[in-house]
Amino acid sequence: MSIVIRNGTVVNATGAYPADVLVEGERIAALAAPDSGLSERWASGAEHVIDAAGKYVVPGGIDGHTHMEMPFGGTFSADTFETGTIAAAWGGTTTIVDFAVQAKGTSLLSALDKWHSKADGNCAIDYAFHMIVSDVNDTSLKEMESCIDAGVNTFKMFMAYPGVFYATDGEILRAMQKARDTGSMIMMHAENGIAIDQLVAQALASQRTDPVQHGLTRPPELEGEATSRAIALAKVTGAPLYIVHLSAAHALDAVTQARDTGQNVFAETCPQYLFLSLDDLAKPDFEGAKYVASPPLRPKEHQAELWRGLRTNDLSLVSTDHCPFCFKDQKELGRGDFSKIPNGMPGVEHRMDLLYQGVVKGEITLPRWVEISSTTPARMFGLYPRKGVIAPGADADITVYDPTARQTISASTHHMNVDYSAYEGMELTGKVSTVLSRGRVVVDDNAFHGAAGHGTFLKRELSQYLI
Ligand code: URP
Ligand code: ZN
Ligand code: ZN
Ligand code: ZN
Repeated sequence: MSIVIRNGTVVNATGAYPADVLVEGERIAALAAPDSGLSERWASGAEHVIDAAGKYVVPGGIDGHTHMEMPFGGTFSADTFETGTIAAAWGGTTTIVDFAVQAKGTSLLSALDKWHSKADGNCAIDYAFHMIVSDVNDTSLKEMESCIDAGVNTFKMFMAYPGVFYATDGEILRAMQKARDTGSMIMMHAENGIAIDQLVAQALASQRTDPVQHGLTRPPELEGEATSRAIALAKVTGAPLYIVHLSAAHALDAVTQARDTGQNVFAETCPQYLFLSLDDLAKPDFEGAKYVASPPLRPKEHQAELWRGLRTNDLSLVSTDHCPFCFKDQKELGRGDFSKIPNGMPGVEHRMDLLYQGVVKGEITLPRWVEISSTTPARMFGLYPRKGVIAPGADADITVYDPTARQTISASTHHMNVDYSAYEGMELTGKVSTVLSRGRVVVDDNAFHGAAGHGTFLKRELSQYLI
């Protein structure tokens, strides 16, 4: 069983060059210069020959931050592992790392079991897990070791959401010490939830109930403050730190400063913070609810800072924080009280396309596009070089990307199980043309050829970025 991808330009994080690619079984077997004559020979015995003339051949995207079927605010995020991974594949993403959730009073290992039972046999692409730690105690700290052995070595904690996921500074400190001692990593939702809850209560008490209040009661200063505090705790403990869904210039400044002084601090941002803004949250007639996520969308001025951070590598990579809730039956829960709008936005399908607009606009280079969407996530989350690179021996997770095709994003054509698109009507240059997941063609010619259950669980190694 072999597949040959001919006449394309292979793009890795290290650069772009014309090359033909031979896939045998689930792996990339060889690359050849187009004039070497090798690919003619390969093609004669191949089961499938893909003509990638005029197209980029890139490692399949790795979305390091998704929430499929996640309980939140009395409901569940609307994509299942099946629908969400199919949508991801449509968008050229071939691996997701989803967050298993420890509910307060339960164990980490039962959360892991639960997430396996949701995902195993249902994913169309490969998948791995992080663990959300919402109950820090002697047992859960000990259980972190078992999670690491099971291939889950990144632990998300929350400085936001008091009473739900919130952890005190003392709890964070203890978990960071454990991360330091085990070579694992704490991921931080860095917003000052205690102060935010006061602002939310004050807004509601004065009848300010619209979705825009979600943004106004979570000011960027409180993301900056929490980010600085998390960095300080990481410094005191000697633990590495990964800031999730960084949205504000204030937080980026803190990350930049820490990195400039050699601290092992990393951060991701998300497409919604690069392309959407507080103006979307302020849309009338409750439409702003579509854009409620935490941290909130920021005033437009933050976007240029985030693009700069992606160029300087103070932002290491881009994940989606895909957490879709339908507008009609789920976001509706917060009509008349913005604090009850389920937090989260859909996005797993469009990360590669949206980031490619950064190449089109000259914000990032072509290899940097691959780096922030695939190679760095692979290294950061212990999947490299199995994932994240077009090279012999790597899994044949390959996206063939047409840089000249045009498309318009719409809920009427997307594949996510959600009734709206945050990017409705946005016109894009570039489109996925073929996607391989471990050697199987899963998307080709505007049709899905994959299957739920093809995706396998990835037991992750420790991060390659930790000193
Ligand atoms: O609003 C968001 N981001 N929802 C998903 C949960 C989280 O905090 O990542
Ligand atoms: Zn979060
Ligand atoms: Zn998230
Ligand atoms: Zn629905």
